Amino acid sequence: MSETALEADIAAIQAEIDAAPLATPDDAETFRVRFLGRKSGVVTDLFSKIGAVPPEQRREMGQRLNGLKQSAQDRLDAALADLESGTEAGATDLDLTLPGRVPAPAERGSLHVLTQTLADIQDIFRSFGFAVARGPEIEDDWHNFTALNFPPDHPARDMQDTFFLEAPAPEGRGVLLRTHTSPVQVRVLEAQPPPVRVIAPGRVFRNEAISYKSYCLFHQVEGLVVDEGVSFADLKAMLTAFARAFFGASDGPAREAKMRFRPSFFPFTEPSAEVDVWWADESMPGGGRWMEILGSGMVDPNVLVNVGVDPERYTGYAFGMGVERMAMLRHGIDDIRLLYENDVRFLRQF
Ligand code: PHE
Repeated sequence: MSETALEADIAAIQAEIDAAPLATPDDAETFRVRFLGRKSGVVTDLFSKIGAVPPEQRREMGQRLNGLKQSAQDRLDAALADLESGTEAGATDLDLTLPGRVPAPAERGSLHVLTQTLADIQDIFRSFGFAVARGPEIEDDWHNFTALNFPPDHPARDMQDTFFLEAPAPEGRGVLLRTHTSPVQVRVLEAQPPPVRVIAPGRVFRNEAISYKSYCLFHQVEGLVVDEGVSFADLKAMLTAFARAFFGASDGPAREAKMRFRPSFFPFTEPSAEVDVWWADESMPGGGRWMEILGSGMVDPNVLVNVGVDPERYTGYAFGMGVERMAMLRHGIDDIRLLYENDVRFLRQF
């Protein structure tokens, strides 16, 4: 074998070594066997041909073959190291033009069913000419109780046990979480003379046993109308119109509003009435039950006096409805606790 023939072989095999794929463990093994294999490897094969080279050139050719073998070994070592560390040798299939791997598009949220219900209630009252007022959730005894004609130590206070932040003082100045939105009646009348026509939505708190129908926290919408010549007939007409608008306007599994006024007692209204809506349920004896949705009545003259409004000139009505109960009736939700658990399987239905 002539020197030039061997040189040509070395050049060809060097080119092959440089181009051989080494992206996978299989590639590496094929490479090792082909170029470095002790029995049939092409480089080993060339070494066996060195005897045919003129003696004075053997030394140089031997060095070149060693260099060839070393370059194969180097490439193989580098590829194995890359494979081990998880990178592909050559990284030839990295396509920089592909779109990035983005996470699945975020799911679209929606308003909580209570928020939706509250918005619907407010829309209806706005259409009836009511303004929206707000008061603090941390109230003082005066606004939550005393001004509303619950004298300190009066048993009527037991109807609404709450969470006291500061012990009730004898002069009626304890600090507490409001038990209802009625203190906003007092705040509005303290701030503005009649005529008044407002609703006051918000969160209220009761120290009560939790069950399918009561929770320690819930929402109310208070209503207050004070003007000359306001009568109980106005109250009844307003609440009836409201119930028709609310229950009739739903496009969900709405329940027909069957309602009744029932005489009741509140220290701050006289006379007072509660409104119940029929909860139809075929599995119950009697086919359902009445569910209380609000308290109401004519503003007690003592309340007007407490806020400096002349009860000889003005009369008014007030009501306070439970937002959770409205949502439950409208959508057939049978357990109030579902509204606070934030289970998306439940919430997604609305
Ligand atoms: N505040 C009363 C309650 O929470 C409801 C009510 C409001 C009653 C206004 C009459 C007038 O039980």
